[in-house]
Amino acid sequence: MKRYLPNPVNDLMKASYTGQLSRRDVMKRGGALGLSATMMGTILASHNAAAQDASPAAEQPAGWSVVMPADLPDLAGVEISAMLAADGPGAPFDQAVCDMFAEATGAVVNYLPGAESATERLTFLQQTMAAQSADVDVAQIDVIWPGIFAAHAVDLSDQVGEVEFFERIQENNTVDGALVGLPWFTDAGLLYYRTDLLEKYGFEGPPVTWQELTDMATTIQEGEVAANSAFTGFTFQGGAYEGLTCNALEWQFSNGGGSIIEPDGTVSMNNDQAKAALELAASWVGTISPEAVTGYMEEDARGIWQGGNCAFMRNWPYAYVLSAADDSVIAGNFDITQLPMGDGEGAAHAACLGGWQMFVSRYSENQDAAKAFAKYMVSPELQKARAIERSALPTIGSLYEDEDILAANPFFGDLFDVFESGSVARPSTPSADLYGEVSLEYFTAVNEIMTGAAEVDARVEDLAAALEDIMADV
Ligand code: GLC
Repeated sequence: MKRYLPNPVNDLMKASYTGQLSRRDVMKRGGALGLSATMMGTILASHNAAAQDASPAAEQPAGWSVVMPADLPDLAGVEISAMLAADGPGAPFDQAVCDMFAEATGAVVNYLPGAESATERLTFLQQTMAAQSADVDVAQIDVIWPGIFAAHAVDLSDQVGEVEFFERIQENNTVDGALVGLPWFTDAGLLYYRTDLLEKYGFEGPPVTWQELTDMATTIQEGEVAANSAFTGFTFQGGAYEGLTCNALEWQFSNGGGSIIEPDGTVSMNNDQAKAALELAASWVGTISPEAVTGYMEEDARGIWQGGNCAFMRNWPYAYVLSAADDSVIAGNFDITQLPMGDGEGAAHAACLGGWQMFVSRYSENQDAAKAFAKYMVSPELQKARAIERSALPTIGSLYEDEDILAANPFFGDLFDVFESGSVARPSTPSADLYGEVSLEYFTAVNEIMTGAAEVDARVEDLAAALEDIMADV
């Protein structure tokens, strides 16, 4: 299950922007790898972005906007461990809300940061559950995992109470009548774009089609690299992991190329519109996107974007408050809209449905405390704070009318329909507990097409055959 190939350039990039290496060491190692000046510029730009992130950002401490829900139980003497945000921009908030719960209930809450890659997280949690380990009581699970973890879950239906979660998510999380995860926050792929650069190059609005994005990114990049050799047109998640499944599904679905496996279980992958979408995306590598994009995850893309070094970025809403923060060099000069669409028959805007749920392990030795913690995390109060401080999309409709939330995230109102029910699901319902295999086959194939290791027609044909085999076992 591990095909996340190490890529020395990507590793260097990461060491650079997480601050593990000094600028000088980055230069030395880049030299040893024989990297071009453009590539070195891109990597060093991410180093600058990191320095910015490390500067004192908001004056407010993480968790400042939390209002504690009433009626939290007394849990003195109980200890639980919760696997939550990765060690990154989301960590201080998660640490703060764990501490607040501990303070209010008397419980000891151990915050375990999960892996940044959803694929690595899945592997870890699958191993933990297969071992029936009590080490993780509560964990955030991805919207595509309820079928995978149903057998290990405590049914949380009795924790919903009066809260009206988005129906679509609650249904998604229900397996054989049991609620495998409480809807926590939802997610949708978005296009971030630089309003100042669009204006500078005479564009009247963001691109509507992927071809327009390609053309606009080309023009802007050509103009900007003269003064900033690190500048690139478009960044996204192109690494061989779950994030690429989300990006590539958006490319193909928005070009009328279907959703890999349709809800009725039919493998629809091998079609011309999907192939055309993948071919266009492959053409971005090394042109409007850095070569290293085929190793990028969310934070790699954001590092470049937030350093002011790209015109367009595909990312989730979490990047909004970070990009808009007072200490962000692009604050005031960017906006968000729907991702572009293709021009094939049936083309339409498509945002991949993402998001996370609170899951309680059946092997937990403190299930009542774990349930109380999960319920607290998804409460309207905590969802509101997470929306304000982290731009997380609530799973409760009424919160999209909350003035504080809208003031912090003006785009929440405009895109409500997409967030509530209009996004495109990955094929996790038809593939159930085999979704991990489906996604692995898909992102591996797409990544090979993107790096040029495989040719699209033959690779898509093999992919479709592999998906048929998996579906025969569902
Ligand atoms: C985001 C989404 C999640 C997705 C992941 C891929 O965290 O919420 O659903 O699987 O990105 O990287």
